[in-house]
Amino acid sequence: MTVREEIEKLKKEKNAVILAHYYVSPEVQELADYIGDSFYLSKVAVGLEEQTIVFCGVSFMGESAKVLNPEKTVLMPDAAADCAMAHMADAQIVEKMRRTYDDLAVVCYINSTAELKSCSDVCVTSANAVQIVKALPNKNIFFIPDRNLAHYIAGLVPEKHFVYNEGYCPVHEQMQTSEILKAKEAHPAAEVLSHPECPEKVLEISDYIGSTSGIIKYAGESAAGEFIVCTENGVRYELEKRYPDKKFWFTETEPVCRDMKLITPEKILHVLRTGENEVKMEESLRKTAGRPLEKMLELAK
Ligand code: 13P
Ligand code: SF4
Repeated sequence: MTVREEIEKLKKEKNAVILAHYYVSPEVQELADYIGDSFYLSKVAVGLEEQTIVFCGVSFMGESAKVLNPEKTVLMPDAAADCAMAHMADAQIVEKMRRTYDDLAVVCYINSTAELKSCSDVCVTSANAVQIVKALPNKNIFFIPDRNLAHYIAGLVPEKHFVYNEGYCPVHEQMQTSEILKAKEAHPAAEVLSHPECPEKVLEISDYIGSTSGIIKYAGESAAGEFIVCTENGVRYELEKRYPDKKFWFTETEPVCRDMKLITPEKILHVLRTGENEVKMEESLRKTAGRPLEKMLELAK
């Protein structure tokens, strides 16, 4: 039996479903029942019929799925797959800001640990942050952990006063404008599509800015036939699958999230067989981390 056949067999036996983020490798995306960005996956995770969720992504994604579905078993193919940015703020800085500013909402990017979520008022993803920040009654917004996404949202919601935190995604932070301009020289008709985790200088030279699913949707709707894609290279698989007649270029130094790429078909098979790497969480943490996530799902409706 091939790895794929064995996975399919075990999925039926164990009543399991596979969720995958666009950043995992193509061979993993091919095995997934649901593929999407962080917002889509957090919505999909609620209300699945299957008892076991195999989450092909990094730890904050599996944690969020568990927080929203306490009765389900959530398995991570690689327990070491983590997001560096998820740890780039802490409860102390949140407390300090709460003491410093009146009328403050702590807005937490979903790329964060459960501990960070539990001291926040609402979660957001790159796909819904504008809508949610606009809907908050508070004047002051402390946006954690990502400073790049915070600056981008602040520009779109000028009526709010933003307080920034010094977190960033190491993959998007390394995007070089010089490499984008070089790609643009080679492909002058190409539009530049960027994720808002990119630095401001990159966003300034972009034709479209959005979440991974936003980028994929825009590439389909645009009249352009080629694009320079400024986000993790896993999205290439979906872009090329959906739009075989369009061309997608990446910068010379391809943006790769090593943690997302830790997931392999063999590791999916292993956790399905053994039940290893189950996401476990204290009930008190699960409840407090769940509040901002549920508020996000409510406000983003
Ligand atoms: P989205 O899934 O919201 O596009 O975010 C990208 C990301 O960095 C996920 O880790
Ligand atoms: Fe985290 Fe960046 Fe990897 Fe996304 S791409 S999981 S934000 S390190």
